[in-house]
Amino acid sequence: MKSIAFYNNKGGVGKTTSVINIAFELATETRVLVIDIDGQANCSRFFTDNQKEGLDKALVNADISPENALCSTRYENIDIITATPKLNGITPKFDSLTDKEQAAIAEKIISFGSEYDYVLLDLPPALTKVTEQLIGACDAVFIPIELGTFAIQGIPTVTGIVKKCGAKFGGCFINKFDKKNSLDGQLLDLLNETLGNKTLQSKIPFSKVIKNSISGGMTASEYMGWTNAAKSYKALAAEIKERV
Ligand SMILES: Nc1ncnc2c1ncn2[C@@H]1O[C@H](COP(=O)(O)OP(=O)(O)OP(=O)(O)O)[C@@H](O)[C@H]1O
Ligand SMILES: [Mg+2]
Repeated sequence: MKSIAFYNNKGGVGKTTSVINIAFELATETRVLVIDIDGQANCSRFFTDNQKEGLDKALVNADISPENALCSTRYENIDIITATPKLNGITPKFDSLTDKEQAAIAEKIISFGSEYDYVLLDLPPALTKVTEQLIGACDAVFIPIELGTFAIQGIPTVTGIVKKCGAKFGGCFINKFDKKNSLDGQLLDLLNETLGNKTLQSKIPFSKVIKNSISGGMTASEYMGWTNAAKSYKALAAEIKERV
């Protein structure tokens, strides 16, 4: 099993959309467990109409298994541990645990997926001890970014967080890429200078296919598999597979 977190402290960069599409691509050949850590529960709603509670309790009590929140999905090879808004209230309780207890809980949540080939984590756009510990327990962290001067300036902050958590930095990938915008090309050069080979080759274009597919309850491949947008997720999933 390989555990992969998708994290960026910036909101709306495409963490959830990436987890959904990459889970789908990986699940064509392997078994995938998605863990939704975000109280917004967007990822959970995409995969199932029957979100279960329980992850909030498992995250603050090492004796409680995340299994209570395990749901099957309409995809044979994808299961999910669902999030509910109750997750938004766990921070004070988690913070009151010792570092060792926190790390043990994070480890237990991730290793619940040991029977799967991949565990993918959808994280909220916030840095809390919960996020830190979970990132630290994963085999690799990938960071979706939108090209923009502020986003690039923020990269050392995100990579610094990853390092602080003791996590393995898998790399950054660009989402919402606009190849018609010459500034995006310039920013891409700047990003490559900043990160070197930690920038993944696959770029996800800004695309209505991606936005509309999710609204229609489909992945990009299911919605319009022949488009560049859908193919870019296939390429990204293959690249991530190679790096972990
Ligand atoms: N490549 C893309 N092209 C067009 N729209 C996109 C693309 N990727 C994501 N979006 C849209 O951008 C919005 C934010 O995406 P998403 O929810 O995946 O981000 P997020 O990082 O998970 O956000 P949050 O930080 O709130 O959890 C959504 O409306 C989504 O449909
Ligand atoms: Mg999200």
